[in-house]
Amino acid sequence: MSTIDEIKSRIDIVDLVSEAGVKLRKAGRNYTGFCPFHDNKHTPAFVVWPESGTWRCFGACNEGGDIFKFVMKRDGLDFKEALQKLADRAGVELKEYVRETPQQREAYDHLRGLLEDALIYYRSRLFENADVLGYLRQKRNLTDATIESFGLGYAPPGYDNLLNHFKDKYMPQDLADAGMLSERDSGGFFDRFRHRIMIPIRDEQGRMAGFGARIVNADDNPKFLNSPETAIFTKGRLLYGLDRARKPIRAADQAVIVEGYLDVIALHQAGYENVVSPMGTALTEDQLRLLKRLTRRIVLALDPDAAGQKAVLRGLDAARSAMDREAELAFDAHGLLRSESRLQADLRVATMPDELDPDEIVARDKNEWQKIIADAKPIVAHVMETLSAGQDLNDPKIKNEIAAQVLPLIDDLGSPMERDTYRQALARMLRVDERSLMATQSKGQVVRRKPRKNEPTRAESAPVIALSPGRIIEAHCLSVLTQTPTLLYRLDRELEAFGLSPLAAEDFEYTDHRLLFEALKRATGQDEKEYDQFVLSQITDDLGALMDELRASAKKINSSDDKFLDDLAARFLDLRRVRAMDSVTQLKFLQADDQEQGGENVKIYIEQTMRLTRLLRGLDQARLKLSKH
Ligand code: UTP
Ligand code: MN
Repeated sequence: MSTIDEIKSRIDIVDLVSEAGVKLRKAGRNYTGFCPFHDNKHTPAFVVWPESGTWRCFGACNEGGDIFKFVMKRDGLDFKEALQKLADRAGVELKEYVRETPQQREAYDHLRGLLEDALIYYRSRLFENADVLGYLRQKRNLTDATIESFGLGYAPPGYDNLLNHFKDKYMPQDLADAGMLSERDSGGFFDRFRHRIMIPIRDEQGRMAGFGARIVNADDNPKFLNSPETAIFTKGRLLYGLDRARKPIRAADQAVIVEGYLDVIALHQAGYENVVSPMGTALTEDQLRLLKRLTRRIVLALDPDAAGQKAVLRGLDAARSAMDREAELAFDAHGLLRSESRLQADLRVATMPDELDPDEIVARDKNEWQKIIADAKPIVAHVMETLSAGQDLNDPKIKNEIAAQVLPLIDDLGSPMERDTYRQALARMLRVDERSLMATQSKGQVVRRKPRKNEPTRAESAPVIALSPGRIIEAHCLSVLTQTPTLLYRLDRELEAFGLSPLAAEDFEYTDHRLLFEALKRATGQDEKEYDQFVLSQITDDLGALMDELRASAKKINSSDDKFLDDLAARFLDLRRVRAMDSVTQLKFLQADDQEQGGENVKIYIEQTMRLTRLLRGLDQARLKLSKH
């Protein structure tokens, strides 16, 4: 991922805009507010799309863009300065820019291909092994369709099965780089996964990243063995199941986090598809951020051990040290609350009844899951409930202990109203009055959270890999244009023939793309310098790196083909179409707001809607003609 993408993925546009003093209000899947760039303060004309990380003012400015554009406009910066500013904020070092070379990208794709092959190998071993297959079918209640679609497999016992199987196809070093082989101290390689059920792990885009592997033999250790950290497998950045759960999460406007691979699989099989899990490590803010691009409503379905008495009652220090251990999704209420308020997410906790794992719950009664999730409690309420369960709340010592744990959590809450509400609830629960509760706190009896040793700062935490579809299409089109500049001219003629406007900077919503496009366009219109040289003279280093990257990804395309031009045109039409539709939807919300306020902007909005409707009609006609080519 490029540095620019990394910065984008780490900065939430809603946070950025809110911090600039724009009060945002939810309108559908997006947010509206007063435009900070012009001074109509009567009706909101400013829209933020969290999913694509973009904004637009439909009022006087009639302008939009991404986070970079927002900061450029707000602070009067150029792109380079805005990049620096946001890189600092995101904790991304700009000089890492050169890190992801085209060669590296190729190498990663090679590793992914290798893992796909390994998956096929493990799958055929599974279907040869009646015992393991029987375990999955009978003991775990998995259907063949589920086994198939999750790509489950089996690694046979022995130290050289995979090694030998791929001996003519892959170098041992490559297999080791993908995490499939371990290296002997004495030199030489051996299979990392032996006599284990293999669970392929894909990244958010569905690309192979690694494996989780469960024991077959109850006495073997560890129970789960994951791929080691590799170039393409970073546990803290991946969520198991997210490739399949993306759409369901959007559709349900809710994501559920469970603790185990097999729980994810069982829940999907039971029809609950908005479910993901981390891979034996504590939940990271980056993982939450990954989800937050799809929904703000996130439920942690924790088993009673992690969420319950054990972790909380032993005190938060204990919970913290538990977090350092692998294989336990410990419940760190402080950390979660801070993430919640930073991300403006709605985080809740659901506890599993009767010491059951989620997969056992759906095996017992499919519908019970729905109820458990619906009953999820906000974090503070959950902690209060867990702490008080089974305790003698008349005992002043216990009262004090509970207050000491809950009050600092309440302080973490983002909104004053929430803080008040929970203070009152706590006072009620402990049957003390609120003032003496607050006095307890100011006397310093409250345990304050000290930062953990080795606690990652935000800057060190791993980035998320998440690109919006619009950004991917833009990048694709640009990569083609950098590769074959003459296509720009042909593409414009084609668009013109359809009665559409030629390609313009406004077709690119992302600032880096837009700047690069402008340079490319200028380059085709000059003949003083050689094309590349000219482009490079027009742009900053960061954009030069972007160009290299885009060009590398365009290699395999044969651009002399007319079909290919049509395909490119089609993509641009789709891009314009999606944007126009988004705008029409948003205009409806704005118009409704405006009407309530006296209809000041109504004319502008109607005009814009009509213009967009005309555009949409034109785009549809063009698309139809294209498909007949
Ligand atoms: P569990 O021990 O709860 O296993 O670990 P499970 O997923 O419920 O599996 P079954 O139902 O006993 O078969 C929960 C998760 O913690 C991680 C794995 O991701 C696992 O799915 N884990 C667990 C590890 O990474 N390493 C371990 O040694 C154990
Ligand atoms: Mn389980």
